[in-house]
Amino acid sequence: HDVNIFLDCLSLHSDKSSSISKVIYTKNNSSYSTVLNFTIQNFRFATANTPKPQVIIIPLHVSHIQATIKCSQKHGWQIRVRSGGHDFEGLSYVSDHVPFVIIDLIKLSEINVDAEEKSAWVQAGATLGQLYYRIADRSKNLGFPAGVCPTVGVGGHFSGGGYGFMMRKFGLAADHVVDAHLIDAEGRLLDRKSMGEDLFWAIRGGGGASFGVVVAWKVRLVTVPSTVTLFTVIRTMKQNATKIVHEWQYIANKLHEGLFIDVVLIRANSTMVAAFTSLFLGGIDRLLLLMQESFPELGLKKEDCTEMSWIESAHTLAGFQKEEPLYLLLDRNSSSSKGFFKAKSDYVKQPIPESAFEGIYDRFAEEEGQSAFIALIPYGGKMNEISESEIPFSHRAGNIYKILYAVAWGEDGASQRYINWIRKLYGYMTPYVSKNPREAYLNYRDLDIGRNNQGYTGYKKASIWGKKYFKNNFDRLVHVKTTVDPHNFFRNEQSIPPLSSRV
Ligand code: FDA
Repeated sequence: HDVNIFLDCLSLHSDKSSSISKVIYTKNNSSYSTVLNFTIQNFRFATANTPKPQVIIIPLHVSHIQATIKCSQKHGWQIRVRSGGHDFEGLSYVSDHVPFVIIDLIKLSEINVDAEEKSAWVQAGATLGQLYYRIADRSKNLGFPAGVCPTVGVGGHFSGGGYGFMMRKFGLAADHVVDAHLIDAEGRLLDRKSMGEDLFWAIRGGGGASFGVVVAWKVRLVTVPSTVTLFTVIRTMKQNATKIVHEWQYIANKLHEGLFIDVVLIRANSTMVAAFTSLFLGGIDRLLLLMQESFPELGLKKEDCTEMSWIESAHTLAGFQKEEPLYLLLDRNSSSSKGFFKAKSDYVKQPIPESAFEGIYDRFAEEEGQSAFIALIPYGGKMNEISESEIPFSHRAGNIYKILYAVAWGEDGASQRYINWIRKLYGYMTPYVSKNPREAYLNYRDLDIGRNNQGYTGYKKASIWGKKYFKNNFDRLVHVKTTVDPHNFFRNEQSIPPLSSRV
């Protein structure tokens, strides 16, 4: 794999005025490592053994992406597309297939908010924090229902679903995408009209990486009240945490849809605690009434709650302190979540017995010193109203909550130990969570649930993981893939295969 031949091809296929040479980084370039590592969240994929791209392209124009696609096809290179770099398994910047090139969209991050039309065009390389900040800059009563971490990229996040604390009121980020610009395997720049409804359906939850390079999304914004309320309440074992969490399972998905309360189970000072964090789309007085009516067991008090604007709630949920400026939401370096980690997901349809929670605590106790948590994320509300096939994201009515299991550690040598630990915990949970398929959330990417073969990627093998992420929508995704990328150019360990694929 001669890098120079690839570079020659790039300059041949791009028009002179677009100066593609300025956006190319090879291993000979002194900023290669800085550019590669800048948005990597999971250090498991930034070790000496991690396969590195021969070339990184940071496009400033669509033509740079088109040239990269053409030359990759011509010379048998693979492409990885990166927006925010938050993929749990590093699929946006690692490939076992060498040679490969990363298209890093970090500089395509323009955001244009139309407050009157209540919409925005967002380029794929923008982050959630940037989007929230730009929306609030234009209107105090507009917002967007997407994830909590401000450094997550909209490219991966919207194409995999994308949820946050307004999910019960408005659904997912992908539910609010109304148009998109995408470059397909033939290098064509398409919008919703020219790509057609099937492909437009597929990229809203089916993962963009199987279908092309998303350059920008048009999203419908939502109306948020001038005042919202946040609380975080921690309950220890002595304060009956298990009973309260158990009770939470009976009301979490039935609460008023403007009220979202999640639970994080974590070990602190040799004991488990449950942290309840909530966003309510309204003021304290109404919240206290609702809580009294629906969840008195938590014992929420007025002094636990803080009223603020929606953008302040996004800033607080992102982990910033009150005195820190709002513009930190724009900062890609603000992520505090970088490290070695492994995460997995599950869906819960029946309340889990109290004894099962005790078993979870035992597993946490086995690994003193680790940094691990389980988050329980409530469904219901708007999520019940949207059909399972509306977009590829299929986890709708019938789910009480989703579980995120996560464990983080500090050095590469410990990786196998903690990965084994979380797999064991996942095994322990089998009787209590969704079955046939055991569902999983695409944006919580987990290669343990199945992966494509190197080389030949068959429908049968892919449906092992595909049905878990998409249930019956998997078949339609395969159909779309077969139509738009029959030669399976856009592929990775968990990409949708075309039916006829032989590569
Ligand atoms: P990244 O750039 O790594 O891409 C992810 C995948 O999408 C890769 O397969 C990539 O190739 C593909 N892709 C990216 N850009 C593309 C483009 N323009 N065109 C085509 N394909 C593209 N999720 C959630 O729903 N709610 C939450 O609150 C959070 N919070 C959160 C916190 C932290 C710290 C992390 C690490 C992750 C989350 N997530 C999350 C998960 C997050 O939604 C998920 O990792 C997204 O895919 C990340 O999108 P990025 O663009 O950052 O990822």
